Amino acid sequence: MKALIEWVDARFPLVNVAREHLTEYYAPKNFNFWYFFGSLALLVLVLQIVTGILLAMNYKPDADLAFASVEYIMRDVWGGWFVRYMHSTGASLFFVVIYLHMFRGLLYGSYRSPRELIWIIGMVIYLAMMATAFFGYLLPWGQMSYWGAQVIVNLFETLPVIGGPLSEWIRGDYVISDITLNRFYAFHYLVPFILAGLVFAHIVALHKVGSNNPDGIEIKKGPKGNRWSETAPKDGIPFHPYYSVKDLLGTVVFMAVFLGIVFFIPEMFGYFIEQPNYEPANPLKTPEHIAPVWYFTPYYAILRAIPSFAGTQVWGVLAMFVSIVLFFLLPWLDRSPVKSIRYKGPTTRLALALFVVTFLVLGWLGTQAPTTNLTIMSQFFTLVYMLFFLLFPCFSSAGQPLPLLAKGLLALSILTVVATIVYWWALWSGGPAAVYKIGYTVLSVLVLFLLGIRPLLRAEPVKPVPERLTK
Ligand code: HEM
Repeated sequence: MKALIEWVDARFPLVNVAREHLTEYYAPKNFNFWYFFGSLALLVLVLQIVTGILLAMNYKPDADLAFASVEYIMRDVWGGWFVRYMHSTGASLFFVVIYLHMFRGLLYGSYRSPRELIWIIGMVIYLAMMATAFFGYLLPWGQMSYWGAQVIVNLFETLPVIGGPLSEWIRGDYVISDITLNRFYAFHYLVPFILAGLVFAHIVALHKVGSNNPDGIEIKKGPKGNRWSETAPKDGIPFHPYYSVKDLLGTVVFMAVFLGIVFFIPEMFGYFIEQPNYEPANPLKTPEHIAPVWYFTPYYAILRAIPSFAGTQVWGVLAMFVSIVLFFLLPWLDRSPVKSIRYKGPTTRLALALFVVTFLVLGWLGTQAPTTNLTIMSQFFTLVYMLFFLLFPCFSSAGQPLPLLAKGLLALSILTVVATIVYWWALWSGGPAAVYKIGYTVLSVLVLFLLGIRPLLRAEPVKPVPERLTK
């Protein structure tokens, strides 16, 4: 064995790569619960690829056969039900893990310099995941697969001039059809491998600058030398065995939850597999209520919240697009002198808590059939979502003078709040109860004041950050 490794090593830096990126990757010693989710995401990606390939062995991407082939996998293929439920549960849990992984980034400022590129590659990964999930959802060819895809592809139709031809080009037909199913299958098989390449780039970028940690203190810049190496950061510990063992614990707990769902509640009350998808796709029968899977619903709620005006519905699509793009800009919107939430002031904590609540409520709203009151509620939470990003430079500035761009964002926020309130009072047709209008008007002004104006009047107190993790 030793001779074989030496033979390979003389031709390819196997041992060196394994040392540098695995066994002797020096990570900060204070990783906590939130640091489980990177390795869990990697685990789920592998599980999805393996179960996906197994499913592909019996699945038929043909509009006449697709639905029945999934039923065949569920009933007749040996272990087919297990592989299929692993894949459908894995899709949802992938998003649970990634949302928690991203939230960790928000908590500890992991997107801040020098990790902007890790964050941006992460966001591209997130988009690729969304695309994969969207393509995959059409494949069982159930009612929700069909009509969900119809609604989403129709969104492109709202774009001026190119909209019609573009959506036709995506579908390859005037409606979602066998042609669409074939190409979605091709992409659903392809994109996860692109995803794997992106994850590789994500980790290469991480290992270039080193991991952040819950204190937001850079260990690479600190003193050098520990019991394993003279040159490694003093506050670093080798990934193996310290974090390999820690991640193993996370993996065991996660797999217990994962398999618990697969064995006992694979449909998760219609959130992981929706009821209408037990009926074959029928182009002549629209389901009563079309909603995307839960991980898309916050954006779906934003899409529906924006009314059409000037004769076009493109504004909702634009708002949805902007709500995702804003995440890319976080590294430059955060102006706090400290990275981690542990040292940030109360307004930033409040803003983050408010954002989490907003994201969850929008997610719930996206699953509901729209009513007048729910629509005005979606508009309020869409406003808060946008204000969180637009006012980030203000509430994170901690008394430093605002640059011109941040002042512009503040002005834009004030304008947006005023326009929304005017819309609620003057243009809202169908008349929501006055108490809703009053309530949301007061709350919107309060959020604008707390996150945008108050931090300028009274500097946010940040706590002093120690220079090292350990004394
Ligand atoms: C397939 C999806 C993904 C995989 C497999 C993955 C994997 C990983 C791994 C293994 C780490 C190092 C361990 C850790 O810090 O937890 C990491 C770190 C990181 N990831 Fe991801 N990631 C994925 C998606 C994302 C997304 C969507 C984002 C954000 C938009 C993101 C942002 C980050 C950041 C900022 C770090 C550095 C964290 C720190 O050092 O504190 N990742 N990722």
